[in-house]
Amino acid sequence: MNKKLAIYPGTFDPVTNGHIDIIARALDIFDEVIVAVLVNGSKTPLFSTKERLSLIKESTASLKGVKAESYDGLLVDYLKSKNCNVVLRGLRVATDLDYEFQLATANNMMDTGIETVFLMTSANYTFLTSSVVRDAYSHGGRLPKFVPPAVHTALVDKFKK
Ligand SMILES: Nc1ncnc2c1ncn2[C@@H]1O[C@H](COP(=O)(O)OP(=O)(O)OP(=O)(O)O)[C@@H](O)[C@H]1O
Ligand SMILES: [Mg+2]
Repeated sequence: MNKKLAIYPGTFDPVTNGHIDIIARALDIFDEVIVAVLVNGSKTPLFSTKERLSLIKESTASLKGVKAESYDGLLVDYLKSKNCNVVLRGLRVATDLDYEFQLATANNMMDTGIETVFLMTSANYTFLTSSVVRDAYSHGGRLPKFVPPAVHTALVDKFKK
């Protein structure tokens, strides 16, 4: 039987426990999840692609069936190159919905075989975003309950004077 594969694209700058929660739960549905780090997005990232990838790898080391890769350009082309037709996304509070709906529709219009699967955030991560995490640490705050230990260390290090 073919392995069921899902691709979870994002910026992951850095990966948070909200992301890890989505990945772990997706592994109950899919055999393999590729966490795909977008290289040239519209945002200027705090962590380099290489740093983001190694933080994802370290933070998912105990989960079986997870890979981390980077991609550039159109997500639909990347999906094709992986022979995969499932995009995995997480949904937080209502504000995610409009944007995610646009994205899923656009991808499906470019390639009608593509399905986007949404997993709803776990209650304790509803308001967790990478932006909030970056912002907190940049001002000396700490959120160890919301990021994997390797990410916590990397953030403290990044903003050390
Ligand atoms: N706490 C969370 N719970 C569920 N899904 C999440 C959570 N945080 C992010 N996601 C989902 O993960 C995917 C990748 O998100 P992304 O890399 O943009 O992270 P982000 O936290 O939204 O970062 P940023 O604040 O930089 O936009 C998206 O589908 C996003 O909705
Ligand atoms: Mg986001």
